Amino acid sequence: MASEVVVFPDGESIGRSAAERVIAAAQEAITARGRFSFGLSGGSTPRLLFEMLAQPAFADRIDWARVFVFWGDERTVPPDHADSNYRLARETLLDHVPIPADNVFRIPGEIDPAEAAAAYEHTLRAFFGKRSVFDLLLLGLGDDGHTASLFPGTVALQEETRWVVENYVEKLATWRITMTAPAINDARQVMFLITGANKAPALRAVLEGPHQPAVYPAQLVQPENGELVWMVDEAAAAALTR
Ligand code: 6PG
Repeated sequence: MASEVVVFPDGESIGRSAAERVIAAAQEAITARGRFSFGLSGGSTPRLLFEMLAQPAFADRIDWARVFVFWGDERTVPPDHADSNYRLARETLLDHVPIPADNVFRIPGEIDPAEAAAAYEHTLRAFFGKRSVFDLLLLGLGDDGHTASLFPGTVALQEETRWVVENYVEKLATWRITMTAPAINDARQVMFLITGANKAPALRAVLEGPHQPAVYPAQLVQPENGELVWMVDEAAAAALTR
């Protein structure tokens, strides 16, 4: 697994660089395999990338008819809810590019969590076959070290065979639907986008601290045959020692 940390002065520069990486990954995948499978993260940070990628200077360099979009996790809310990861991506990116509706695979957060997880796993297995080899998977980092909806101390961290599970998050008193570490680790490339001083302690613990994924689940992300890139701003990188 190749891994690198790239530090940027601000969100604008991360958004620009991440957009270039998406375009490069898309062009490589489409040339080599005829399609680009792109897994999106949620929360607020991805807005930096989505809004950049939606600009014609970037969007016009991608053959959207061959792009297939998925999510690494979703909240248990309807698709038009303010907390929906799908809604964030739709409003900031998908509504602004010519991607066919059939190429967008939303996690059905509005239905029973266990049913949603099973349905989404079926969707992924139907698309990918034996291994969930995403061409590019975006992830974020919570200030508690979670990624996707793999939160510290939750059951989903133990999952070794399912690709998607329902995960009860005590601290949020809510269910989430999330891809699991095995599914994440089959990706060709995983890209973390992390900004803000509030992420600095968790980022240092994940990258430089002892291996304790039950406490810092982002440490579970170790793509077996893929690249891992950490795109971070100076504020989030402030506690790193190397
Ligand atoms: C989610 C995300 C989650 C996110 C982190 C960071 O559904 O919330 O998938 O893993 O990436 O919580 O969120 P911010 O980007 O909002 O800091």
